Amino acid sequence: MEEEIIENKGYSAYSYVDLDDQYKNLIKSAQEACDTSYSPYSKFKVGAAILLDNGEILTGSNQENSCFPAGLCAERVVLFYASANYSNRTIKQIAVTAKRWDEDQFLPITPCGGCRQVLLETEVKQESPIKVILQSSENQWVVTNSSEVLLPFCFNKHSL
Ligand code: THU
Repeated sequence: MEEEIIENKGYSAYSYVDLDDQYKNLIKSAQEACDTSYSPYSKFKVGAAILLDNGEILTGSNQENSCFPAGLCAERVVLFYASANYSNRTIKQIAVTAKRWDEDQFLPITPCGGCRQVLLETEVKQESPIKVILQSSENQWVVTNSSEVLLPFCFNKHSL
């Protein structure tokens, strides 16, 4: 059986210095949003920043709860906030960052499955792709063409 070679993976990888200033700016906002994390249980701060089509940046962070499932990830906090307050705007990009309470350096993070599904829903709803900007290793960043790249074989409203 011959393996199919997928030429276009749907994302690009960059060293931090090679990233466009627009991406660096969004990453900085996401990193600053980590300071607003309420994470006394995991002690793991996550910050997310989204860029709207008018250039505005919105941020969110993970908000935990003593009843664990009642908490919410940073990505969903900011995506739901945007949906509730900026429904006439299109989301162009999202950057996600993370750090542990007791460490200074930021860590690679990728959105959890639930957040990927919400990203996909947002993308389908606005009929326009969202670029996802993630740290993949110490000095390496990934920029996807869309959020669908993170959720192959996905289920969305077109499946119903
Ligand atoms: N978390 C996020 O905010 N986003 C993710 O994509 C993964 C996990 C949060 C949830 C919880 O507050 C903490 O990180 C540890 O799982």
